Amino acid sequence: MSTDEQPRAGVARSAEPVWDAIRRRRAIRRFADRPLEPRHLERILDAGRRANSSKNRQPWEFVVCLERGHLGELARLGPWAGHLAGAAAGIALVTPDPRQPGAPLSVMFDLGQAAAGMMLAAWELGVGSVPATVYEHDLARRLLEYPETHHCEFVLSFGYPADPGDLIEPPRPGGRKPLTELVHHERWGRRGNPPP
Ligand SMILES: Cc1cc2nc3c(=O)[nH]c(=O)nc-3n(C[C@H](O)[C@H](O)[C@H](O)COP(=O)(O)O)c2cc1C
Repeated sequence: MSTDEQPRAGVARSAEPVWDAIRRRRAIRRFADRPLEPRHLERILDAGRRANSSKNRQPWEFVVCLERGHLGELARLGPWAGHLAGAAAGIALVTPDPRQPGAPLSVMFDLGQAAAGMMLAAWELGVGSVPATVYEHDLARRLLEYPETHHCEFVLSFGYPADPGDLIEPPRPGGRKPLTELVHHERWGRRGNPPP
């Protein structure tokens, strides 16, 4: 059996692998001190590439950061970016600057889809992940050297989790709002069960 066929993260034997991944994936912020296997990194990037986007614009480019020193610097990009220091890979999601006049709002939707695909594909491979929101934009441009026309709002941390059990923890009770708080029927404000 090749390594690819090893059951991973509880998903390989599931009859509903997509649903399991959606339901069980959690943010992982503590990583083992080992590099990503190249084929895992490639799969993650390919998952981002394959995302759908408004008018198929594919408004993303990815800066892959693997050097420990560079990751340590990226950890200063925001107050909650510290996990990048211990990640095996940081992938900066770079788009055309969405604040330019006429820039479509869809860019961030598109980017979210690419990021979600990357993080779900990672989970299936036993790789944990979490975004870091960039607050220090000048620093991000200096560290990543993307041009003035472009913008980086998020960098994703990836790595094998320090505790592999974190990948297959059952969903936390109360970890997400119940549907009854989120769903309105036909008109805003009509919550609860659908009308008979
Ligand atoms: C757009 C976005 C930005 C986020 N930014 C950060 C961040 O800067 N630092 C961080 O540690 N987690 C960040 N997260 C992760 C969230 O905190 C996490 O998904 C949320 O708390 C739910 O965690 P859970 O999936 O483990 O239940 C971000 C998530 C999203 C979707």
